Amino acid sequence: MYKILTLNNIAVAGLARFPRESYEVASEMQHPDAVLVRSFDMHRWDCPDTVKAIGRAGAGVNNIPVASFTQRGIPVFNTPGANANAVKELVLSGLFIAARNLLSAAAFTQQLTGTDQHINEQVEQLKKQFVGFELAGRTLGVIGLGAIGVKVANAAEALGMNVIGYDPHITVSNAWKLSANVKNVSSVEEVLRKSEFVSLHVPLVDGTRQLLNADRLEHAKTGLVLLNFSRQAIVDETAVCAALNKGKLSHYICDFPSNQLQQQKGVITFPHLGASTREAEENCAVMVADQIRQFLEQGLISYS
Ligand code: MLT
Repeated sequence: MYKILTLNNIAVAGLARFPRESYEVASEMQHPDAVLVRSFDMHRWDCPDTVKAIGRAGAGVNNIPVASFTQRGIPVFNTPGANANAVKELVLSGLFIAARNLLSAAAFTQQLTGTDQHINEQVEQLKKQFVGFELAGRTLGVIGLGAIGVKVANAAEALGMNVIGYDPHITVSNAWKLSANVKNVSSVEEVLRKSEFVSLHVPLVDGTRQLLNADRLEHAKTGLVLLNFSRQAIVDETAVCAALNKGKLSHYICDFPSNQLQQQKGVITFPHLGASTREAEENCAVMVADQIRQFLEQGLISYS
């Protein structure tokens, strides 16, 4: 019997990939052969000697000390691309929310009281207050052209936006998937200078920590909408708040609430919902379960 320890909830579709005759899967157990994790922080986790593989049901691996597992000969599997569509859809929502003031407009509308006639009079006021702008013809800069960034770029282009991208490490296969209309530029600063919206899609590694800092944000077009559905630490939140207060940024829309952002005008946060769709959770769980099985049963390491 192989023993699989789950440190977070993993979608049933993924757990079902482990046949009961040869696998025991549980959230607590002794001597696991492999560990499945979603957002659990493994940096201070005491990994039993029996563990032969780690699987993350998600793209980022910054919650896992990959280098120290690698030194111990333990491969870490992740699921790049498996939740890309879900993240793309949330990013697109962010574009619409900013362009049409959707959250504020809905909140104000919800507060309307009185007779229908009175409500309709107030609606006329709100229509004036919440005049938005169209995405078509605006420029979106996508920083990071991996599985998610490419989908965001292509979808925005299909909405009629001008899209520019920056990724010095783009893979050949992602370059092929990218719409020919997406123009590549040569620096983060150039993206910031040329865009009305910028969306971040880089993994959190040493080179991307605080990629958007005060110096870089100085290059932003006034009123830029910054979207961060990648990782909190990619931006310097103090610099983002300063840029919002100066009007350099009009919105910071992100998937990471924090104490500093909570009261800041111009900030819209979600509770790390990017990959939280039924489909994405299932895709990630199935992909990571299959990788773990292949490794335990056949010693195979497959990278997508
Ligand atoms: C990811 O890295 O793909 C996401 O963080 C997944 C998740 O929300 O767990």
